Formats: sequence, structure tokens, C-alpha cells
Amino acid sequence: MALAAARARTLRALSLPRPPARVPVPARSCCSQAGARGALPPGEYRAWRERAARDPAGFWADAARGWLRWDSPFHTAWQPCAPAGSARWFLGGRLNVSVNCLDQHVEKSPNRVALIWERDEPGTAVHVTYRELLDLTCRLANTLKKYGIQKGDRVAIYMSVSPLSVAAMLACARIGAVHNVVFAGFSAESLAGRIMDSGCKAVITYNQGVRGGRTTELKATVDEAVKNCPSIRHVFVAQRTDNKVQMGDRDISLEEEMTKADSICTPESMDSEDMLFMLYTSGSTGKPKGIIHTQAGYLLYAAFTHKYVFDYQQGDIFGCVADIGWITGHSYVVYGPLCNGATSVLFESTPVYPDPGRYWEVVQRLKINQFYGAPTAIRLLLNYGEEWVKKYDRSSLKVLGSVGEPINKEAWQWFYEVVGEGRCALVDTWWQTETGGICIAPRPSEEKAEIIPAMAMRPFFGIVPVLMDENGEVIEGNDVSGALCIAQPWPGMARTIHGDHQRFIDSYFKAFPGYYFTGDSAYRSQKGYYQITGRMDDIINISGHRLGTAEIEDAMADHPDVPETAVVGYPHKIKGEGAFAFIVLKEQTPRVDHIKEELKTIVASKIAKYAVPDHILVVKRLPKTRSGKIMRRLLRKVVTEQSSNMGDVTTLDDPSVVKEIMDAYQKYKEKSSS
Ligand code: WT7
Repeated sequence: MALAAARARTLRALSLPRPPARVPVPARSCCSQAGARGALPPGEYRAWRERAARDPAGFWADAARGWLRWDSPFHTAWQPCAPAGSARWFLGGRLNVSVNCLDQHVEKSPNRVALIWERDEPGTAVHVTYRELLDLTCRLANTLKKYGIQKGDRVAIYMSVSPLSVAAMLACARIGAVHNVVFAGFSAESLAGRIMDSGCKAVITYNQGVRGGRTTELKATVDEAVKNCPSIRHVFVAQRTDNKVQMGDRDISLEEEMTKADSICTPESMDSEDMLFMLYTSGSTGKPKGIIHTQAGYLLYAAFTHKYVFDYQQGDIFGCVADIGWITGHSYVVYGPLCNGATSVLFESTPVYPDPGRYWEVVQRLKINQFYGAPTAIRLLLNYGEEWVKKYDRSSLKVLGSVGEPINKEAWQWFYEVVGEGRCALVDTWWQTETGGICIAPRPSEEKAEIIPAMAMRPFFGIVPVLMDENGEVIEGNDVSGALCIAQPWPGMARTIHGDHQRFIDSYFKAFPGYYFTGDSAYRSQKGYYQITGRMDDIINISGHRLGTAEIEDAMADHPDVPETAVVGYPHKIKGEGAFAFIVLKEQTPRVDHIKEELKTIVASKIAKYAVPDHILVVKRLPKTRSGKIMRRLLRKVVTEQSSNMGDVTTLDDPSVVKEIMDAYQKYKEKSSS
């Protein structure tokens, strides 16, 4: 089914009113003028929303012309995508993302602060102006060029958050290289997997990382990873600490080279649809997938959502505490804020270092206006009590944001009442690595009072969400639940999975032909607001980090004494979800506890520490269908303690396995609580 037809059907199903008269989308310049504070006048939201849904090409073309600096204009706003999954935006246009994020601001206000690096050590923040960041970026770009990195080459960035890591991303953008940021908490094996899959030519890293008062061995991890990566020619090593690390043949001291390099680097003129970056994220099966984002559409969508979801005003200090290793860091620490000429905070520490008042001490000291964080941190902090918050002046705060996982009502209320003193808008933002930017959120400029606790609320401009039933039919009306799909392409959506376009189509466009399937389920309230109710696949969300249970199972499969495993998510008070592993042993052994510890070590070294299961339960066998498929659904019921309602178990090979596992779980629980 062609997407256009699907869209028409959806719009009919949603019975939107007739198109309004042409609604102009203002250029960004109007929001940087003093006085014209840039927020949309009340009432215009509706007009914008309707135009974006009905005339996406016109809406986004106006936005792209007003918002971005082009080397040459695009001739076609979008290519309506048949087959589904092949949308392209701003065809024929050429631009450079780093020029949009740096040069254009340097021309007008070179001394405006681009980044405030809130280093791990409290009170040692570093301010970097737009001019300084352009200088760093150009020197880094020239260094990459000197060592043969060219347009289209892939570069891995394995660094903690800092001005230099932001400059590394922008330097890639400047010369047309494709960055692949790998979260610095991932193991050597994970890093190697991502480097190999993407064919990176170079890695940029630090000697060490610093977080929560502890150092981590970044360079040593890179050494371990690149042993098995023949594509890597150079490892650029910057100094985060004074400690010396072993330098080998392919290692280059980044700062030394940058001092020698020219501070002017002519930007590469890129096609709108050239790759900007890839970022690996978990799927429900197999290895993590390299999600590809391109230049113009991604940048526009990140900047536009940054402006309107957070009601960002020029001069605001924007504090997103995410790491650059995740999409939130890409879109709302780097690209969105910098394209808008904002001052963006880089938070290197943890919410509890040196004490649980850190976030709010930083808010007070840096005078943060928008604070964007994850529910898992809020849940952790609320346990420490209100005093840690109230100690500090939070009067600069205007908007609070939540991202990455469902926010429960208790955390929402605490964030809103205690942190925001009931006067800041709290925006629960739903989106994904694949969507490039926020898709569903309350928008603070409009109808502030209507924000409802723990509800992601309304679609952003141009996002047309639909709920689907099991038969693939659009569910109409309100007060309904279903599979969350998006009916119409938007500029920020991922274009493909690196090296596997078929997997892209199969993952996102096959379940409901003609629609982008998010993998989440959602509820549409009586008023038409959206609430995300959870994943529909085998992806779990540990402390806001997305992980396929299959990845944990694959890692544990390496243990010679454990032939079978099954991992499911279970509700965890702080982390949101934790991993619960069921394992079958090859033979009875007194070494059970030892084996469990070995399994944990394997998972940490093959994936990352956060992926390690909290619970490992030995069972005699796993529940399997007659065709040998593990029924994880039943295990999920056991660990969520809903075993009175197991549903249909008739396809099980031997239904008595259910009681066997329930008994084992019961015993395990009794033992761990005693
Ligand atoms: C998955 C995407 C969004 C950037 C960081 C995570 C879950 C995300 C929310 C929210 C409920 C949420 C979804 C989604 N998720 N935001 N506000 N409420 N669930 O990006 O790692 O690609 O994970 O995170 O399940 O599909 P990601």
C-alpha cells in the first residue's frame, strides 16, 4: 500500500477539519530579535499543527528555508515515499551542519557562550564561546583531514561529554565524515562490534574518563577493541586527566596535533541527504543496528523541536543532562541547541556526586532555564528527600523535561512540585533514536495548565500518530489503546540501518504496511492525548537505556555450562526496568553461585555494566512451544507476579513447566528476602 493512500485514510479516520488558509512558518531570525521572543502566539499552534499534518511539504519547506543556512536551495521539499521507508527531504539542497551550528552565530555574536562544561569536579565549569568552539572544531577537522579522513569516512567517538567531544562531532560534520558516537560506558567488545559494522577508519577518545569521582580507562578499552578492527588506521587520544597512557604506533596525541593545525577549515558542502551520523541502538533481535540520520532534515527537526517543545528563548541556558552517547545528547545537547544559537550545558557527572543535591546546585550556579533529564534519576533523587532540592535556588527554571522511559506519577509529581515548585511546565517527551527528535510532548507555550501528569500528550507539528489493532486496522476515536504508528514521514526520521536497508523496512514498515511502527503501544485518552504504555517487543529499558533481551541472552550463551537462557524485564523501583534471567544448567553442580557471577562478568564485558541482570534464576527447563520457541510472555508474567493470569498456554510443549517455574521463582524470592 502506498504511504500517500495510507495517510489519506488516516487523516480521514482522524477526521481533521478542512485545511486552514496558508499558515506561514516564521524564520528563526524573528525569534532572535529583541522583543519578539519567538514563542508562537496562542492560537497559532493549532493552525501550524493542521498545516503540518495536511501539507507537510509546504510546512517543512517554509521551516527549512527560514531556519537553516543553505549553500544552495533545495528544489523539492520531500519525496513522497513509495515504497514506505524511503522518504527523502529537501532534495537538491546543499548545506553544512557545522556552519549552521557555529559560523552563522560567530558572525553575529562570537562571544556568546555555546557550551558550559559542568565537569565532574564541582565548581570547575568551563565556558566555551561560539568563536572558541568554531576554532576547536576547525583544528580538529584539519587534524582529521591531515590523517586522511575524508567525506563519507566513518569515525568512532568514544569519549565522555566535553567541549572536545562536541567539537569532534562537529569536525566530522564540517568535513563530511560520518560520526559514530559510542557511549563511553560500553565495553571493548561492544565498541569493536560497532566499529566493525560501520567500518570506521579512526577512533577519537580520551586517555581516561572521569565520572562520579572515579576514572575509567577509555584508551585502554579502545586498545582492547581495535585489536580486532582492521579498518582502524588511527586512534586520536585527548587528555581528560594528567595520567599518562601507553601510546602505540597508530595513536596520535589529539591536542598536540590541534595546536599545530590551522584554525580555518573550509566546510564541505553536503547534500541534504548525505549521512550526518550513525548511532547504534538495540533491536528486539540480533545485534544492535546502526541507525542513519542525514543532514538537513535531522538538523531542522532537532532545532525546531528544541525551540518549541522547551519554549527556548534566546539567552536561555539549556541544560540537558544526557550523555552524547545517546540520541538525546545528539539532538538536545549538540545539534538542536547549537543550531538555535543556545547556550548548552554539558553535564559530565552523576546526579549523586558529590551528593544528591548536584543537579540543583548546578541549576543555581549556572542559572539553568530548561532542565531535561531522565525519570530514573528523578526516582533515585526523590528517595533522598526534598532538602537536597530546597537547599538551592531554582528560580531560573522555566521548563522541566523528561525523556527515555515512562515517568511514573510519583516521580512526575515530585519533579513538578518539589523541583519546579509547581510553576514550571513539565514536558514528558516521547521519541526514539529512529525519530531523530521529539514526536509526542505537551508544548509549553500553549495551554500550560492542561499538562497532565505522566502523559506524553500531543504530537509535534507534522507527526500524525495512529493506533492500530491486531488486524492492522486504524483504531478510531478516543479512550482507546493500540500499537503506536506514525502515518506520515517527518524530516527527522531515520533513513536506513547501516548496511541493511531490508532490516530497516522489516523492523519499521512491515508490521503495518505504509506506516512507521514504533514498537511501543499507547493509549489515546478521552481528550485525544497520548500516553505511552510500553514496548510491544523484546526490548527493555534499564535506567532509560534501551536494550534487547536477546543481546543479554546472546552474551550469556558464551558460558560453557549454560546451554539455555531467557531474559525478561521486570519492574524496578529506580531503574524503571531491570533484567531477570532464567537459565538452564548443563548439569547439576554445586558451583551455581560461581556460575551466576561468571555470567554477570560476561554480560558486563560483552555489553556494558548496566546490562547485567539483577536476578538469575536456575530452572530445569524453559517454557517452550511445540515448535521449540521460548514463551517469554509467560516468564514476564512470573516476574511481574501476574501468574494467576497466564493466558493461553495450550501451545506449550508441556504445560506443567509453568508450575515448575512458578515454584522455583517463589523459592528464589523467599530465599532472597530471608
Ligand atoms: C524508546 C526509545 C527518546 C530518546 C531516548 C531514548 C521509550 C522514550 C519515552 C517517554 C515512555 C519512552 C520508548 C521508546 N521512551 N521516551 N517519554 N515515555 N517511553 O531513545 O533509546 O531509542 O529508546 O524509549 O519505549 O520506543 P531510545
